Amino acid sequence: MKLLLLCLLIHVPSLLASEAWDSFKKTYNKSYATAREENFRKQVFLERLKLIEEQNRKFEQGLSSFSMAINHFADLTKGELTKPSGIHASEIVEKNPSSRTSRSEDVPDSIDWRDYGVITPIADQMFCESCWAFAVVGTVEAHMGIYHQQNVSLSQQNLVDCVDLNFTCGQSLDRGMVEKTYQYIIDNNGIDTVQSYPYESYTVGTCRFSSDNVGATIAGYVNITEGDEDELKTVVGTIGPVTVVITTDYMWTSYRDGVYYNEDCMNTSEIFNHVVVIVGYGNENGEDYWLVKNSWGTWFGQEGYIKMARNRDNNCGIASIARYPIM
Ligand SMILES: *[C@@H]1O[C@H](CO)[C@@H](O)[C@H](O)[C@H]1NC(C)=O
Ligand SMILES: *[C@@H]1O[C@H](CO)[C@@H](O)[C@H](O)[C@H]1NC(C)=O
Ligand SMILES: *[C@@H]1O[C@H](CO)[C@@H](O)[C@H](O)[C@H]1NC(C)=O
Ligand SMILES: *[C@@H]1O[C@H](CO)[C@@H](O)[C@H](O)[C@H]1NC(C)=O
Ligand SMILES: *[C@@H]1O[C@H](CO)[C@@H](O)[C@H](O)[C@H]1NC(C)=O
Repeated sequence: MKLLLLCLLIHVPSLLASEAWDSFKKTYNKSYATAREENFRKQVFLERLKLIEEQNRKFEQGLSSFSMAINHFADLTKGELTKPSGIHASEIVEKNPSSRTSRSEDVPDSIDWRDYGVITPIADQMFCESCWAFAVVGTVEAHMGIYHQQNVSLSQQNLVDCVDLNFTCGQSLDRGMVEKTYQYIIDNNGIDTVQSYPYESYTVGTCRFSSDNVGATIAGYVNITEGDEDELKTVVGTIGPVTVVITTDYMWTSYRDGVYYNEDCMNTSEIFNHVVVIVGYGNENGEDYWLVKNSWGTWFGQEGYIKMARNRDNNCGIASIARYPIM
């Protein structure tokens, strides 16, 4: 039905475009302060619809490995979706000597940590640039499952409030935020549970951590060698999920299915703007992929997940800044 609508759109634009817009607003509870803003958002949405339609035609013809769909971001502009962060992969240091490696024959060809019951449900960071907090929490939760057989939900707000007292939800991703966050959990002797310290999606400016409510502690963390997808595979396949800093672009945000590969999504000197968790890897229809858990709710991608290209020159910088906890 959706596909039909998209095809027809080319022939009878005005009527169906309005229908598609109305349906989008209804599905995602969108409302706009002024008619002028609504008109602007509608134009943004229709542009995006066109892009999606073009991409899906390429996908149907086998010219591209992924398809796209409308989601709750469809009324945001390219600029709004790809806010720069100031993190540059090339500035990130070399391999950490303590990084654990396994023999290659122990590394499985594919893994999905969801099959082991250690991946907590998809969360939604909402109106805060707190992806780093969600990604670290998601990673530590998974390692709690693997190494302590505990299903805990940890507090993103604890991190938002306490890792950097100057952090504000509207600011771009800070260089080194993932390391700072792991270091905070180490130095702080733990992170609270989400039940005791729920997510608020804005900054209160006060750290309300309580040692009575600690849900997890970590002994340390490890940096994977910059850009080393083999080492990343070894770690994900034999140790567990990994937090990664990546570039998300305009196309990425509308991903629906398949293996996301975009030659314009650079790995170096590109401005990284998002943090996610790799929870597995594999091969689909001849395309190697990383299985990535996002924090934009289940509306995004495949119930909140995206498969991103693996072994394609570190596309989107997926292996550039990769860190995982030692439990
Ligand atoms: C929209 O609002 C309805 C009713 O409040 C709610 O059930 C639904 O989950 C909301 N949808 C989204 C995408 O937030
Ligand atoms: C990981 O890399 C960052 C960035 O270069 C560095 O500041 C940090 O000390 C490293 N951490 C470890 C545990 O090696
Ligand atoms: C962990 O707990 C959450 C919240 O109670 C639940 O939704 C989820 O299914 C549980 N996960 C596992 C693997 O048991
Ligand atoms: C917060 O910002 C102020 C003023 O810019 C600065 O003096 C202070 O050191 C910062 N604090 C932290 C924890 O970064
Ligand atoms: C980045 O991608 C280029 C190809 O676009 C590749 O040659 C290079 O090895 C990659 N660098 C890193 C650090 O992954």
